[in-house]
Amino acid sequence: MNPVIEALLNRSSEPKLTTPAPPASVLEQAFACAARAPDHALLRPWRYLVVEGEGLQQLGSLFEASATDSDSERQREKLRAMPLRAPMVVVAIASPVSHPKVPVQEQNYSCAAGVAYLVLALHSAGFGAMWRTGDVAERARVREGLGLQPTESIVGFIYTGTVTAEKPAVPRAEVSQFVSRWPQPED
Ligand SMILES: Cc1cc2nc3c(=O)[nH]c(=O)nc-3n(C[C@H](O)[C@H](O)[C@H](O)COP(=O)(O)O)c2cc1C
Repeated sequence: MNPVIEALLNRSSEPKLTTPAPPASVLEQAFACAARAPDHALLRPWRYLVVEGEGLQQLGSLFEASATDSDSERQREKLRAMPLRAPMVVVAIASPVSHPKVPVQEQNYSCAAGVAYLVLALHSAGFGAMWRTGDVAERARVREGLGLQPTESIVGFIYTGTVTAEKPAVPRAEVSQFVSRWPQPED
């Protein structure tokens, strides 16, 4: 099978990750792949933060600091531990600009397409990855702590590392269930 098709058909999100994290050479290549996402007017409306080592503890502290009064002690602890689920977290940030022909939504799509390429490239290089968001991606304290501009948004926290245990197979959608012809062929 064509190796690209094979990688696409075999990729799955992997939540159970440990060291080693992808090395610099793998990361560099994965980001180069992300930068090949379709990008109307070549605006490059994305940027990434790589977090590992002590940075993961700091990210956990930032998540915890974003807790509200209604969050229990248990929820705070959960927030603090979140980034420690992998040896590396890549924060994908959509960074749209004002453009007469390219709406912000299209620029966000471009960032998301890049993230899909990123996780596929990591998978192809033998590393697991899991795209996560959750409430924390929207919280002002987290946005501020990560240095987001008001126009920017967090498209994902990409947890990556070495797969410790493959997750059970995810049932995949049947092509015929989500693809049809328009106009519908007459009988
Ligand atoms: C934008 C986005 C955000 C996501 N956020 C989460 C999340 O916060 N937690 C989670 O368990 N899965 C999240 N997912 C789903 C997983 O990344 C994954 O796609 C899903 O578990 C299906 O697994 P698969 O990628 O192997 O098909 C998110 C996916 C996308 C595209």
